[in-house]
Amino acid sequence: MVDSQQPIIRVNNLSFNYPKEAVIKEINLEIYPGECLAILGFSGSGKSTLLNLLASLDTPTAGAIHYYLHDQHYTVDSDGLTLKKGDTAKHISRDTLRKHFGFVFQTPFMLSNFNASDNIGLPLRLQRKPVKEIRRLESEMLEAVGLKGQGDSSADQLSGGQRQRVAIARALIHRPNIVFADEPTGNLDGTTAKEVMKTFLNIVKKEKQNALILVTHDPCVAAYYADRIVYLERKKTNEGSVLVHRGLEGLEDIRQHCNKAVQHFFKGA
Ligand SMILES: Nc1ncnc2c1ncn2[C@@H]1O[C@H](COP(=O)(O)OP(=O)(O)OP(=O)(O)O)[C@@H](O)[C@H]1O
Ligand SMILES: [Mg+2]
Repeated sequence: MVDSQQPIIRVNNLSFNYPKEAVIKEINLEIYPGECLAILGFSGSGKSTLLNLLASLDTPTAGAIHYYLHDQHYTVDSDGLTLKKGDTAKHISRDTLRKHFGFVFQTPFMLSNFNASDNIGLPLRLQRKPVKEIRRLESEMLEAVGLKGQGDSSADQLSGGQRQRVAIARALIHRPNIVFADEPTGNLDGTTAKEVMKTFLNIVKKEKQNALILVTHDPCVAAYYADRIVYLERKKTNEGSVLVHRGLEGLEDIRQHCNKAVQHFFKGA
């Protein structure tokens, strides 16, 4: 259920332009603790661009993103990241904010000279956690994404879907507050996708202050797992995309359609 308290992220008039193209145009959005928000939209509408901005991997051209985490108020705008305390604001490194985030990239990557376990444990190694704890959490995450016993495998010994699961485990191992996932089930079969989505939600919904922001092309994934869906739509080719809020409207219809589609698929098998 969506919590109606203070948002964890508030986006104000956010715009983003590449030198030759306006991609995001004056978007306003709030994301609440405990929420799974799905972002849908045509290819090229700017979903990955928006996710990168929300995760503070890119800098807005205009507008601001506010984060309310652990009683702190952070703001990212075209000048970078500031931490606000009362009336004062001081510039800080983005790593301070990003350590609370987990990110699954649209194209999953693994460091090629590290095996699956070591790749998964990377965020904890960067935080200099004790090796024993890292090993324990790596095995826990391998199991959670269905890769038990494959921790020693290197990138070239794993399939695309298995590498994607390594990327998902790496995004979750440090128990981030906000998980940004760009097409996390794109390379997975239906059963594995379901397991992986359950893992996301188990971890994200465990703590009240967490949220999952999910980019997907699959309306069934959005309808089953999201509390709310927003669409990115570009009205004119030379303008950036605006956000269309549809809330819960139509979710039940999509769910029923997806149920029928799945039943039809298995009948035909
Ligand atoms: N590094 C870049 N430099 C210039 N333009 C870019 C860059 N990355 C993306 N774009 C452009 O920004 C627009 C939005 O791209 P984005 O990758 O955000 O779309 P998307 O909605 O994620 O698409 P898809 O569903 O195919 O992943 C596209 O027109 C793309 O060509
Ligand atoms: Mg994309």
